[in-house]
Amino acid sequence: MSVKVLVATDKPFAPVAVKGIQEVCKDAGFECILLEKYTDQADFVNAVKDVDAVIIRSDKATKEVIDNGDNLKIIVRAGAGYDNIDLEAATAKGVVAMNTPGQNSNAVAELAFGMMLYSARNFFNPKAGSELREKTIGIHAYGNVGRYVATIAKGFGMTVKAYDPFICSCKIEEDGVIPVASVEELYSTCDYISLHIPANDKTKNSINSSLFKIMKDDAVLVNTARKEVIHENDLKKAFAEKAKFKYLTDIAPACDAELKEQFADRYFATPKKMGAQTNEANINAGMAAAKQIVAFIKNGDTTFQVNK
Ligand code: 3PG
Repeated sequence: MSVKVLVATDKPFAPVAVKGIQEVCKDAGFECILLEKYTDQADFVNAVKDVDAVIIRSDKATKEVIDNGDNLKIIVRAGAGYDNIDLEAATAKGVVAMNTPGQNSNAVAELAFGMMLYSARNFFNPKAGSELREKTIGIHAYGNVGRYVATIAKGFGMTVKAYDPFICSCKIEEDGVIPVASVEELYSTCDYISLHIPANDKTKNSINSSLFKIMKDDAVLVNTARKEVIHENDLKKAFAEKAKFKYLTDIAPACDAELKEQFADRYFATPKKMGAQTNEANINAGMAAAKQIVAFIKNGDTTFQVNK
């Protein structure tokens, strides 16, 4: 019986990326099954029943999904953040979980700048806007996306600072970026803050009043990471207390409608998370995921496993 690979994507990959995934599977002698734009989580739970491997994006690989996969051996999150995989359930069932770090990072970084330019030009109304040049951007977490943000920011003539307690400041300096010693220093000294922290127990709600209150009055917070890291009530307070504060996000908060209504000139959220939604990022991440599955099933390669 051939190995079955399920591609379960509520937000589908570009057709060219799907074709690439199908080819990788075919070359390996594997069968590729597509479950796209599903509206019910039960469809995902059912589709996993007899497959060996699953490729997902932000789709929720819950305990129910994992436990229903009688033959399931591996789940690959085609992307960076794997907060949507129940790692405990995967580990308990002996299922390997992986991500594809770096494969969609440039797309996310470019979207951050798209939103920054859009807001700097007053969401394209004809009032005089401002330029990014000579402004300071603070990168909160200097991983793959953070590094692309730094490269692009330098092209715009911005001063670039970064805070990342997990990375040697010497590595940050090597890129011509100014490392700062504390998150407070980052938030209090920058015009733009670009968020690239993952969502986990330590980071959820961590962007709260303690940071909002020390930000510049006209600071712009750019979130292409996760909505869960923002303390939404404190965000609303920041809007009320700082007349020029702006929030730009690729992951709309629960209070999206309220912010749109009250602060239309200072708030923007993409209609659907789209940082990684480019042909290039879909091809890179989707095909990397398929190749990682082949390498694991054929050779036991566990590079990129996140539940070791
Ligand atoms: C990621 O973690 O890789 C990004 O958030 C992209 O998510 P998506 O594949 O659901 O667009």
